[in-house]
Formats: sequence, structure tokens, C-alpha cells
Amino acid sequence: MQKFKRIGVLTSGGDAPGMNAAIRAITCAAIRQGVEVMGIIGGYSGLINEKLKPLTTTSVANIISRGGTTLYSDRCLEFKTEEGMQKAIATCKKYNIDAIIAIGGDGTFRGATDLSLHGIPTIGVTGTIDNDITATDYTVGFDTAMNTVVNIADQFRDTCQSHARCNVIEVMGRDCGWIALMAGIASGAVAVAIPEIPFDEAKAIEKIKLEKAEGNRGMLVIVSEGVFEEVDGKKVPYGKLLRERIEKATGIETKFARLAHVVRGGSPSLRDRFTASKMGVRAVELLLEGKSDLIIAEEYGKLVPIDTHFALTVDRMYKNKLKDGDLDGFSPEDIEKMKEICDIRTAKIQRYYDLISKTS
Ligand code: F6P
Repeated sequence: MQKFKRIGVLTSGGDAPGMNAAIRAITCAAIRQGVEVMGIIGGYSGLINEKLKPLTTTSVANIISRGGTTLYSDRCLEFKTEEGMQKAIATCKKYNIDAIIAIGGDGTFRGATDLSLHGIPTIGVTGTIDNDITATDYTVGFDTAMNTVVNIADQFRDTCQSHARCNVIEVMGRDCGWIALMAGIASGAVAVAIPEIPFDEAKAIEKIKLEKAEGNRGMLVIVSEGVFEEVDGKKVPYGKLLRERIEKATGIETKFARLAHVVRGGSPSLRDRFTASKMGVRAVELLLEGKSDLIIAEEYGKLVPIDTHFALTVDRMYKNKLKDGDLDGFSPEDIEKMKEICDIRTAKIQRYYDLISKTS
């Protein structure tokens, strides 16, 4: 067993409901093993600028139900420079931080793996509403975000029905359509547009006309913020364009709502508290077992540690962002495994997408 005296924990990138549950679990699990915990304030910039506070079982006692992150967050460009990295390492040395658990998404894990390569052991815990980390089936925050969208969509449905309207709702997710897709299915949307699958606008409009003819008064369309259309050489968010086109083609008064950051806030769901707690405890265990440079993924409901470099590479493969040399150093079996992970994800999205037309 590795003998660490003190570890650091940070949250970085967009905050996500459940990050606090992870902070709590990490703190409690470490302290019960005789390891002190330092909270790093404001992500990697806190590490660079020595913004730290000791965490105790008492200080984290009541944060499990809180949204956001009590350690605050940041997207830190300075950390990507060698100078920023050296300052971060100096902080670790000065405050005797032996290892770091980083909670966040792909940007956070890129930072964590760099730290590992510079000699500071790290473990990554997922925390992003987008569920856009290819190597894991689930990221902490996703369930709460989906539920937030479903609850709001239900409210839009009430008023749409009263006024015989349609509502196009744009939801977060960056380049990833999971929130839109799942919330669309669960809110009975008539159509869902996501970046992963070409959207058949004509078919969606026909569907809306048909539903109107059948007497359906309230209709919802969910659009992921990652869907754009090129207009006069500019990328225009698709949701607003679709609103206009639905209204014009169907004669149904159609409203547009961008939910934006509302989707990211709120008290975490049971699923997020539970998964964050499990991942937090596992992260501490892995560090104490002497492991490093891993992220904790969920595969078919089980927690599986995955090499961070592998996770980031499979992510780029799935997003068609592989650069020359990215696959160098991986065995043919690793590359096969990456392709399999990508294929499973693609098939899963298609299967769920097909549900929309079958259920509406
Ligand atoms: O990655 C989480 C996320 O909320 C995305 O869904 C969204 O595109 C982005 O962050 C927004 O980032 P910011 O809060 O920096 O505007």
C-alpha cells in the first residue's frame, strides 16, 4: 500500500451536479485511511496560484445535496503551458501534496495526465453533464441534467397544450447529443436533433403536421446545442432556424427556448450522488494501491479504471479528431478495443434515436 500523507482534490471545467458528492466521498475515504485532504480552489488555476484549503469530514458533511462545486471551477489556459505546470508542481511540493484526484471532463483529464507525466500521481473522476467521455458509459452529472430538462419540458408541454403550440427547446451538451436524446425520449418529444445523426427536417415537419391533424395540441422538439447550420458562411445554432421553419410549414405557433446553464445547476439526483460516491472512494483506493494516470469509467454498471491516455485517445477516435501519431504506442489489441468502444457507442445512440420515431 502506497503511503501518502496528503492528497489534493480539484474540480475543473464546467461544473456538474454530483461533484460535491465526489469531493465528500474522496475526503471521507482518504481521512478514514489516515490521509489528509487539501481542497484546491478553482481547478488547476488554484493549484498554480496556491489557493488551497484543508478538507475535513466535518467541512464536507453537508455538501452531498448541493449542486455546482464547493471547490469552484475554472478552465485554466495557463496550466497548459510548461510554466503553469511547473508552478502547479511547486505548489504540490510546498504543501506536501503527494497525489491529486481531478474531477471533471476530458480537459480535466488532459491536465491530470500531464501532471502524472511530471511525477504527481493522479486519478480522474468523471464530472460533466454532457456524458461525452467515450471510454465511460456514464459521467457524473448527466442524470441530474437529463431530469432537469425533462421537468422543464413537462412544463412547456402543459402550456403548449393549452395554447395549441409547439416548443423547440435547445439543451446543452456541447458536441454531444446524449442529454437531448434521452430527455427527448423521456419527455415524449415529437422530434430530436442531435449532432451525431443527420436530422431529417422534412420528416419532422410532416410528423408535426400529422400530429396536428390527429388532434395533438402540444408538441415539443428538443435540439442539442451542438447542431448548427451554415448560413452565409456562418455557423448558426439550428434550434432557432427550426422554430421558424416549423411555424411557417405547419401554421402552428412555435416558441423557442434555450435552457443554457439551467441544465447544469441543481441538487444532484440519487444516481449522481451514488455514482460520485462510488467513484470518489474508488479513486482513493486506486491511489493508495499505488496506481496513477487512470480515470474511473463505468462499463455496464461496473467501475473500471482506464488508462487516461487510452481514454483520451478513444475519445478523439470517436469524435474523428485523431491526429497523426495518436495511435503510436498502442498495441493492435488496444486499437481494436478502441474501435469496439466507438462502435458500441454509435450503435447505442442510433438505437435510442430510433426510439423517437417509434414512440411519438
Ligand atoms: O461541458 C459542460 C457544458 O455545460 C456544455 O454542455 C456547454 O457547451 C459548456 O459546458 C458551456 O460552457 P461555459 O459554462 O464555459 O459557457
